[in-house]
Amino acid sequence: MDAIDMIKERRSIRKFKNEKVNRETMKDIVEISRWAPSWGNFQVARYTLVDDEATIKRLSTEGVNGFVYNLNTLKEAKGVAVLSFVKGKSGKLEGDDYATSKANVWEVFDAGIACQTFCLAAHGKGVGTVIMGVISDESISEIVSLPEEETVAALIVYGYADETPNATPRKDIDDILRFV
Ligand SMILES: Cc1cc2nc3c(=O)[nH]c(=O)nc-3n(C[C@H](O)[C@H](O)[C@H](O)COP(=O)(O)O)c2cc1C
Repeated sequence: MDAIDMIKERRSIRKFKNEKVNRETMKDIVEISRWAPSWGNFQVARYTLVDDEATIKRLSTEGVNGFVYNLNTLKEAKGVAVLSFVKGKSGKLEGDDYATSKANVWEVFDAGIACQTFCLAAHGKGVGTVIMGVISDESISEIVSLPEEETVAALIVYGYADETPNATPRKDIDDILRFV
C-alpha cells in the first residue's frame, strides 16, 4: 500500500468483528513500529498487547474513567495495546538535565510517534485501530502489571473492522500552514 494512501485512508475503528488478530500478525505490527523515530534514538515506547477476554473486560470497567464512548468500543474489542514509555530518558542529552524548555514532554512526543506508527502498520496489515486518550493510566498500569519505570501513554484498541467509517473532517490547508 502506498504510504500517502495509508496516511489518508486510515480511520479510527470502533466496531470490531468477533475474531482475534493472531499474535504473529501483532508481532509483525510491533516489529514495524520499532522503526518509529525517537528522541536520541532512546526508543522508550513499549507495547503490552492484551488479548485475554477477562483482562480486556477489566480495562473497560476500570481503565477508561467510565467514558461511555470508550466503554462501548471496548465491549466488542478482541485486542487492546497498552502503549507505554520508559520515563525520564527522552529530552536529555548527557547527564540528568533536560536539554530544552520542554523538559520531559519529548517522551510523550515519542509515544505519539510510536502510536501513529503502530496504527499505520496495523492498517497496512488489514488491522483496524482506535487510539484512546480518555483513560485512567494508574488503573491500567496495575491491571497489566506495568514495570515501575514505565507509564501509560494511551490504549490502542485493535481488531478486524466491522465498519467503514466516513473520513472525519480536516481543517483547510490555509488554516494550518504558513510559510515564512
Ligand atoms: C491522542 C488521541 C486521543 C484519542 N482519544 C480517543 C478516545 O479516548 N476515544 C475515541 O473513541 N477516540 C479517541 N481518539 C480518536 C480521535 O477521535 C480520531 O483520531 C479523530 O476524530 C480523527 O478521526 P480518524 O482517526 O478516523 O481520522 C483519540 C485520538 C488521539 C490522537
